[in-house]
Amino acid sequence: MPTFAERLKTRVPDWRRFMARAREDRRAIAYDLLPVLGLKERRTVAKTLAAFRPRTANFHPSAKARELALDLSASGLTATQGPVDTTELLAWFQATPCHDPYRPHLGRFPWDRPPSDEVNLGYFTWEEVIRAPGLLELANHPDILGAAELYFGCKPVIDNIGATWSYPGRDTAKGAQRFHRDYDCAASFKLFLYVTKVDAEAGPHVYVKGSHRSNRIESARAQSDADIVEAFGAEAVTPIMAPAGTWFIEDVYGFHKGLVPKSKPRLLVGVEYNLYPSPLAPKAPILPRDERFDPYINRVFMS
Ligand SMILES: [Fe+2]
Repeated sequence: MPTFAERLKTRVPDWRRFMARAREDRRAIAYDLLPVLGLKERRTVAKTLAAFRPRTANFHPSAKARELALDLSASGLTATQGPVDTTELLAWFQATPCHDPYRPHLGRFPWDRPPSDEVNLGYFTWEEVIRAPGLLELANHPDILGAAELYFGCKPVIDNIGATWSYPGRDTAKGAQRFHRDYDCAASFKLFLYVTKVDAEAGPHVYVKGSHRSNRIESARAQSDADIVEAFGAEAVTPIMAPAGTWFIEDVYGFHKGLVPKSKPRLLVGVEYNLYPSPLAPKAPILPRDERFDPYINRVFMS
């Protein structure tokens, strides 16, 4: 295993660039340095930070919140929940043209007509996702917020959000379609909502149970299936097939990926709950304050 100094050198090869990024966005400091920490150190940092962050007065989490938090601790992945009605959500994302940030020259395109086979994923902007019908209500579901507070030891911050179409028939897995750990925050989990039905043809999300509490393959790099099976065993690799409207949460430090769909496109919404804001969310809030939602938890997106 590499030493702290070696990890630091790999992570910050150029201190001038690190300082420039830090000046431009203070959130980049924690983000850039996080992979330097091993699992034990991450957990110590997360616990220490949580002790100084706000908690809910008279906190009484629901039985469901406790169940979700227990699942997260035990395996990193909760049982599937719902389904909730995603009809309006699907209509919203079908009516909004998507884009590929890695191929900006392709511009905007309809959800079912990606302009090139190079496009594996169709993305939406933060604004388009946060304004989607029912999204904020689901993201602020008391069971999920309760689970977050139990799991982190303090209130979470709703941070990185996204919605992506995965297109079928692509030869190469790209980005999040290969096994990876998320290094967004010292403590972090993600809510995934299947807006469309996900069966074996539609690219199931796959989680490696137990890898969130393991220091095997402590790396920010994408890993091959063979290396994951060797490290964690085939029985830990859990594909999730479920009807439209199903949601689940997982500790995204554990290895995960979305398989490339075989014959059907898949629409997935993801909402990340962090201990502190990452640079993967807007620098300034997009929406005005909404009295229904906790201002601390929603501070990244709401003024
Ligand atoms: Fe990820």
